[in-house]
Amino acid sequence: MKNILVIGSTGQIGSELTMELRKRYGNEHVIAGYIPSAPPTDVLMESGPSEVVDITCTDMILDVVKKYHIDAIYNLAALLSVVAESKPQLAWHIGIDGLFNVLEIARHYNCSVFTPSSIGSFGLDTPHVKTPQDTIQRPRTMYGVTKVTTELVSDYYYNKYGVDTRAVRFPGIISNVTPPGGGTTDYAVDIYYSAVKGEEFVCPIKEGTLMDMMYMPDALHAAISLMEADPSRLVHRNAFNIASMSFAPETIYAEIKKHKPDFKMRYEVDPLKQSIADSWPDSLDDTCARNEWDWKPQYNLETMTKDMLEKLSARLK
Ligand code: SER
Repeated sequence: MKNILVIGSTGQIGSELTMELRKRYGNEHVIAGYIPSAPPTDVLMESGPSEVVDITCTDMILDVVKKYHIDAIYNLAALLSVVAESKPQLAWHIGIDGLFNVLEIARHYNCSVFTPSSIGSFGLDTPHVKTPQDTIQRPRTMYGVTKVTTELVSDYYYNKYGVDTRAVRFPGIISNVTPPGGGTTDYAVDIYYSAVKGEEFVCPIKEGTLMDMMYMPDALHAAISLMEADPSRLVHRNAFNIASMSFAPETIYAEIKKHKPDFKMRYEVDPLKQSIADSWPDSLDDTCARNEWDWKPQYNLETMTKDMLEKLSARLK
């Protein structure tokens, strides 16, 4: 990988992934693609090149790929699960029409492509405990529909045209930098902000609802190490289960309370978020990722909580 384009570089994952890629490959080699309604922060803007790249516009992607001799594309443009339910056509347009734009350019300009899938690609019929790598995927959300389609179309381009597509299924991602917007797992980020601000947390997800989660440093490491992996070892491509922790609201609350004994939480369940959460796995089996490219997370709930509280407390002071 010499020159990398990140599409969606100002989003929840993109903003940190772009900085991490710049650290590893050099600032000038990582182009931050963004849309004008989500402009880059000063840090992103000043640390390397950036360009307006709307994934729904083939020419914009093409111009940047040619201008910077791009050979790898991290495609992070997407609407999260709850927002996608209110704008299903737009979710498809960005997620799938956009993906075709990226893959067609990748095919002609020889780029590798990372387009993440998600725990949202599973559905009610999926085995929920230790969900296997290869299993039933019949989601009922538009987010999930676009993610399963992403997996299939990405594999199609690999098998038919030899495009080097690879991806992981991200769990809920927790970070102290860019907040998520409109996802089902957002509560697990919001709860830390409430704890640090000394506010009561109103939890939209019911007690006992297990979902897979991951701390951002592990998520970034997963994406980059999969893209660096020896292709001869990859049996799977789109997309790998990865896992590091699975918890319900009461468990993360109890962990935060160890540091903030006065912290209060009450439940006010959001029916849409709850129905989406109920259709997703309790925990994923990530054996294939461990065997095929040595995936191994660094953080668990305890170490993540300590780090989240320290970083957020310093920033929100
Ligand atoms: N974090 C995403 C969401 O909640 C799941 O991949 O929509």
